[in-house]
Amino acid sequence: METEILNDSQIQEAVNFIADGQLVAFPTETVYGLGADATRPDAVKNVYAAKGRPSDNPLIVHVSSPEMVWQYADNNYKPLAERLMKSFWPGPLTIIMPIQKNALSKEVTGGLSTAAFRMPNNKVTLDLIEKFGKPIVGPSANTSGKPSPTLAKHVYHDLKGKIAAILDDGPTLLGVESTVIDLSVDVPTILRPGMITYDDLIKVIGNVRSDHHKVKDEEIPKAPGMKYKHYAPSAQVIIVDATNDFPKAISEYQDMKVPIGILATDEILQKAPESFRKFSLGKDVISASKYLFAGLRSLDAEKVTYILAQGFPDADHGDAYRNRLNKSAGQKHYEK
Ligand code: TXA
Ligand code: MG
Repeated sequence: METEILNDSQIQEAVNFIADGQLVAFPTETVYGLGADATRPDAVKNVYAAKGRPSDNPLIVHVSSPEMVWQYADNNYKPLAERLMKSFWPGPLTIIMPIQKNALSKEVTGGLSTAAFRMPNNKVTLDLIEKFGKPIVGPSANTSGKPSPTLAKHVYHDLKGKIAAILDDGPTLLGVESTVIDLSVDVPTILRPGMITYDDLIKVIGNVRSDHHKVKDEEIPKAPGMKYKHYAPSAQVIIVDATNDFPKAISEYQDMKVPIGILATDEILQKAPESFRKFSLGKDVISASKYLFAGLRSLDAEKVTYILAQGFPDADHGDAYRNRLNKSAGQKHYEK
């Protein structure tokens, strides 16, 4: 199959593909998603096949309005969910709720009695869903285990020939996936940190738990996706937490005489040797979140053996960045 690249004047073509049961990658404010008709199990199955994703890992149901959610979700959750929707939708918050009986197929929910809903803040994709008239499932549009795509060319690299089209809307704004909050438990619980933070959520619904940092491999994670290897480039990523440690880390890795990449703010890159492959994270943890996945992909393409990556251990709004970086590094930190 030839994968077509579409622009924002070709939304109807994307709608036609999806209505035909085919797969179309779509832009969001976080990362690109891999879209299929959420009401067609055959189409949804193909999403797992294209990504190489384990089939027990449920998908996010993307909607173009809160009303669309209530055709599927348990309406008892309306009062609580609507407070979140009013404050954060369209935007990078995914809300997990119990669904109405048989409202969505097991291909979407992974066999759970809940589903994840999100209204992305991207004009092209809101238009796509609205024109289609039904929700679109969409995991991130990368090969399972690889860094999520923040550019259409990342999607093309991973999925060309496997999907009908990519709707190209340029680089995504935020660069890390949405915050996932589970409302189906006694205390609403953050399953995946994102740019909408614990503090943001507390202000709106009062009581929130944040469990993401406690998930261990041997536990059964509440977000099935959290147990799999994630965001991992072929190179070994090493997190350098203290900026003061960079000079020592740089000289130790330079001595190894293998290709080394460095992923850090401009300030640190200025002091890295010529021989290092460099990728800029900009100036702070917000720009770092935006460029992390692109940086991992770019340095991988340069075939480096190690990537020294800046940690931002104490940064405000840094939970999402740290969570993704930790996974891409398999928790490996530089130790003096
Ligand atoms: O920003 C985003 O959320 C992007 C864009 C494309 O919208 N999507 C995304 O999808 O990151 P995905 O499939 O890569 O991540 C969805 C996460 C997974 O960890 C999955 O296990 C979890 O949400 N999830 C989905 N449905 C769930 C459910 N019913 N219960 C618990 N976790 C669920
Ligand atoms: Mg993903």
